[in-house]
This record gives sequence, C-alpha cells and structure tokens, in this order.
Amino acid sequence: MRSHSLVATAAQLLASDKGLLAIDESIATCNARFATLGIPQSEESRRAYREMLLTTPRLSGSISGAILCDETFHQSTANGTAFLGLLAESGILAGIKVDLGAVPLAGRAGETVTEGLDGLRQRLAGYAELGARFAKWRAVFRIGRETPSMMSIHANVHALARYAALCQEAGLVPIVEPEVVMDGAHSIERCGSVTEAVLHAVFRALYAQDVTLEGMILKPNMVLPGASCPDPVSHEDVAYATIDCLLRSVPAAVPGVTFLSGGQPAEPASARLNAMNGRSKDAMPWALSFSFARAVQQPALDLWGGRAENVDVAQHALELRVAINRAACRGAYRPSMEHDDTSSSALRAVFAPRRGPSGSSA
Ligand code: 13P
Repeated sequence: MRSHSLVATAAQLLASDKGLLAIDESIATCNARFATLGIPQSEESRRAYREMLLTTPRLSGSISGAILCDETFHQSTANGTAFLGLLAESGILAGIKVDLGAVPLAGRAGETVTEGLDGLRQRLAGYAELGARFAKWRAVFRIGRETPSMMSIHANVHALARYAALCQEAGLVPIVEPEVVMDGAHSIERCGSVTEAVLHAVFRALYAQDVTLEGMILKPNMVLPGASCPDPVSHEDVAYATIDCLLRSVPAAVPGVTFLSGGQPAEPASARLNAMNGRSKDAMPWALSFSFARAVQQPALDLWGGRAENVDVAQHALELRVAINRAACRGAYRPSMEHDDTSSSALRAVFAPRRGPSGSSA
C-alpha cells in the first residue's frame, strides 16, 4: 500500500515533462547569495524572496514539486497564506531538505560526510504530517588527486541509503542526491569515472537497505569538466558522457533522474538537458528532468535584488527559466527561446496539445 503510493508520488513528480524547483538553500547559503547583491540577510528577506519565487504566475505549468528548507516550510506569504497551502492550491507537491549539511570527515582532510540521521524518523513523521510528500538529502564528493576516497564514498552512501529507507517508511519519496562537485581542473572523463563509481556505490547501498527503487528519484550532477579545466566541451559531449555514465550505473527500475545544476550558468544547463532528451529520450529507461536551484533562481534573484518593485520582472525571469527547462525535458529547447516572452509562440507551441492526423488530440 505504502510502496504503491510512493510509486504514484514519484510518477506525479515526473509527469508531463515537469521538473522540481529547488529552493532549499540553508540559511547560511541563502544569506551568502544575498550578501553578494547587498540584500539584507534577515529572516524577513528570505521569506520575501521565497514568496516571490513561490507566487510566480503559472509556476505549476512547469514545476511539479518544490524542495524547501525547514525555515521556508513553516513560513507564509505577507498576507498570511502558508507556503504549504499555496503549493497545495497550485498542485505543486511539497518537498523538504532533511539533511543537516556536510561536516568534515574524521581522518580525511578536505572530505565531508553529510549529517542528519539522528532523530530523522521523528522529523520525517512531522514533515509528512504537515503535508510533505518527498524529501531530499545531499552528499558531496570532491575530485582531487586522491579523492573521493573509498572512506568518504562508503560513509556518504551509507547515510544516503539509511535516509532513503527512513523516508519510504514515512511515506515520503526520497530524492537521493550524490553530488560530485565541479570545483577543480579535472577532465570530463575523470568526472565520468568518479560519478560512475559513486553511483554504483549509491545503488549497492540502497539495495542493502531494501530501498524500493521505483519509489525514489535520483538527483545527480551532470558529467562535466572541472570549472577550471582548460579543455572546451560541447553540450553534446556533456549529454553523451552523462547518459553513458547513467546507463552503466542507474537501474532501469528508477523512474527518474532530476539533475542538480551544480554551478553551471542557466543557459548551458538547459541546453545540456535538452541535448540528452533530444537525442535519446525514447531509448532511456528513466525520465531525465531538472531539480535546479542556481540555474533557475539566479536570473530572478539578480533582478529582484531585495526590492518589492522588482517582483514582477523577477517572477517573469523564473517563469521563463522553468518553461525553458520543461521544453528541454522534451528535447524541444531552442536558444532563441532565451529571448522569448513566456507567452510567445515558440514556447506555447512546445506545450500545445498535440494533434493527430485527423485533427484529434494525441
Ligand atoms: P544547484 O542546482 O544550484 O546545484 O542546487 C541544487 C541543489 O538542490 C543543491 O542541493
């Protein structure tokens, strides 16, 4: 019964080529992003920012679920509507980030392990009671000459799998997020081999903890060269390297893969997702979608700048970004859409009901 509803929730999150909106930055991370733009680092600024994002017109046209942090989960709009009520009204499922962040791993300088298992069963029950339908936990892996170590992989995948099992026990779909970060000068090939090793370890751990693969979603990095790697790559290079890596390591029973953006600028993140879906959508066993934070939020955050008079223009930027990413889930993204209005013919045509030869909807 419970696993049936997990499967249904995962299917709902992946339906109609929609994606997840990740707005679960911790207070510290959100404050750091505000600081670079001179936005006050206060609870009220964070609330107003999340209100601006969550009240974006037609958000549910491209977004099936929103991942919140604990602070946002309990907040409301200025006029007193709980964010959870707002999401429920628009048909967007509420998700909650439940890890407590990455801390230094004992004995391994520069590596981390994600904490948050203590008391997790009770916290998950509380979030489920309030209406959460899914959860998220992020593990972090850094590529260096001797990292990630087996020790950090084992520690992190064990925690990810225990988190996933506890989520499913609570009736929440676990979003399993092992992130191989972009920092460094490594090649795309090295990112591919590290990501593949990490994903193999993740699925071995999930199997050992009896996690139902049909009732979870994977949130990995795309396979990319390090941010300071001098070798250029095309969007197709990234698409092929990522698909090859996933085909070798992600069981077909997993219903969907929703990528994190990892610090890629907004436009290449969309173009690379599009390249994956444009070439091979029908040949892949899982849906390939997005669960971006920076690559959908940054244009809106820059325009908002903490000022109420900029809400409309910032919301427009978010609406366009998520619509473009939904188009990328269909392999229908075109760079010209970047300059579109969301009501333009190009974007509307992507989502118009398809017509069969007789003129009937297909
Ligand atoms: P980015 O898309 O900015 O990488 O964030 C995704 C996320 O949820 C990080 O945990």
